[in-house]
Amino acid sequence: MIRRRLVVANWKMYKTVAQSVAYAREVCRRLEQEPVPPAVEMVVAPTYPALAPVAARLQAVGVAAAAQNLDPGREGALTGAVSAYLLWEAGARYVIVGHSERRQMFQETDLMVAEKVGAALSARLTPILCVGESHVERERGETESVIGRQLAAVFGDLPAPAPELVVAYEPIWAIGTGVVAEPGETNRVAALIRSLAEKAWPGAGQSVRVLYGGSVNPRNVRDIFGQGDIDGTLIGSASLRVDDFLAMARAGAETGD
Ligand code: PGA
Repeated sequence: MIRRRLVVANWKMYKTVAQSVAYAREVCRRLEQEPVPPAVEMVVAPTYPALAPVAARLQAVGVAAAAQNLDPGREGALTGAVSAYLLWEAGARYVIVGHSERRQMFQETDLMVAEKVGAALSARLTPILCVGESHVERERGETESVIGRQLAAVFGDLPAPAPELVVAYEPIWAIGTGVVAEPGETNRVAALIRSLAEKAWPGAGQSVRVLYGGSVNPRNVRDIFGQGDIDGTLIGSASLRVDDFLAMARAGAETGD
């Protein structure tokens, strides 16, 4: 099965609306001059206030917008919450769910993450489900059990047939640290993710797209794309510059199987 490669820029809480729109304009200008081959899909996840203007601009060049979070509710007296339906209307087609910063700093549990994935799918947003172990868990040899637990919470809750889902393996010790997981290690976890998806929905092991995230940059991205079970990257700080984001997307088209 040919899986389309995916390069996702996660801006976190960076960039004003004006800076976000300027970035989107620059991406449009550069892609109109020199498109990224269709083998690679590009996605940008701005802050909530920048989502609609960025999505509207990037749509013209086939770059999708993602939200960085959602509330599982549909509507109601939920001050400060933003539902999947509102995100869709604002132009998002993807949503990042269960990022380790949300699990750690906003106390999101596996159960909450599962609810969010379900809510995203019912609004036709494709969830980018983040999983990954901490440094301590890795040292204790618990990587596989942590990933298994995080995925079981979500997979157990979803209906057949296999939903369109992206899973991002983001070891917490590699996020924002400059330390990248060894490609072989990353590929082993990606294979585990595929086998768990396959158990949940026969056939899904080959169709689910698996990303790696954690200190990806233009210098190491080719090694990551060189791993057969990895279909793309979720990129934080190195995605804040247009040059670097485009270079990493182009690398996705040039490397691999
Ligand atoms: P980083 O962040 O690329 O800055 O390590 C990745 C992420 O948190 O998604």
